[in-house]
Amino acid sequence: MISLLEFRNVCKGYPKLSVPVIDGVSFKIEQGERIVVLGASGSGKTTLLQLMGLLLRPDSGNVLIEGEDVQDWSESKRSRWRNQNLGYVFQDFGLIPELNLVDNIELPLRIAGLRTSGLDGMKFLSEVDLCGREKAFPAEISGGESQRVAIARALVGHPKLILADEPTGNLQGQQGKQIAELFKRLQVKLGFTLIVATHNEDLIELLDAKTWILSGRLTKST
Ligand SMILES: Nc1ncnc2c1ncn2[C@@H]1O[C@H](COP(=O)(O)OP(=O)(O)OP(=O)(O)O)[C@@H](O)[C@H]1O
Ligand SMILES: [Mg+2]
Repeated sequence: MISLLEFRNVCKGYPKLSVPVIDGVSFKIEQGERIVVLGASGSGKTTLLQLMGLLLRPDSGNVLIEGEDVQDWSESKRSRWRNQNLGYVFQDFGLIPELNLVDNIELPLRIAGLRTSGLDGMKFLSEVDLCGREKAFPAEISGGESQRVAIARALVGHPKLILADEPTGNLQGQQGKQIAELFKRLQVKLGFTLIVATHNEDLIELLDAKTWILSGRLTKST
């Protein structure tokens, strides 16, 4: 079987750091997996997710997407792959204040050059249990609701891969728990591959996910 994503001995550092942040990491991720990458602040979670999402290039090693080495892909091929296959969810939601919730959700479709009518936005607003709020703006909703809109926006293009970077980091306990449960329910329903980077161990159980520990090197605990 060809894996959705494979890393072969990937290293990535930054100029002012003496040791690489990602130091010879190898793994395969299959379609439909749920994985929690657990690590302390500064352990390299965001760096790892950005490598997975083709937002960063490794210093050495290989990244393969469905068996194809992306080393030789042009920037435009990378960005086309991201547009068609990747949804990214950030700790700080990243909603556009000037757009209502439906327009925020449909933004990736418009960036991909597709015509939008509000129907996709409404459908995914309903998937995240926010029916009736379509005319609201980001300033008018809570943090937990903002993250639900951001998840809807990440899903609207039916991506194969969702990368979520500390998606509950800015939320209170109960709201964070609801977001994790929503992620799990949508993943089971839609079948995308879900990678969540966090320092919050509770997400492992809430998402019923495989766990990877990141501290210099990546280890798999389950
Ligand atoms: N653009 C950059 N330039 C230089 N150093 C960087 C850059 N981005 C990250 N780093 C450093 O690389 C290390 C890993 O950073 P990264 O953001 O991947 O960690 P993280 O696990 O996501 O941390 P956090 O939980 O605080 O978000 C840190 O020491 C950080 O200071
Ligand atoms: Mg980070």
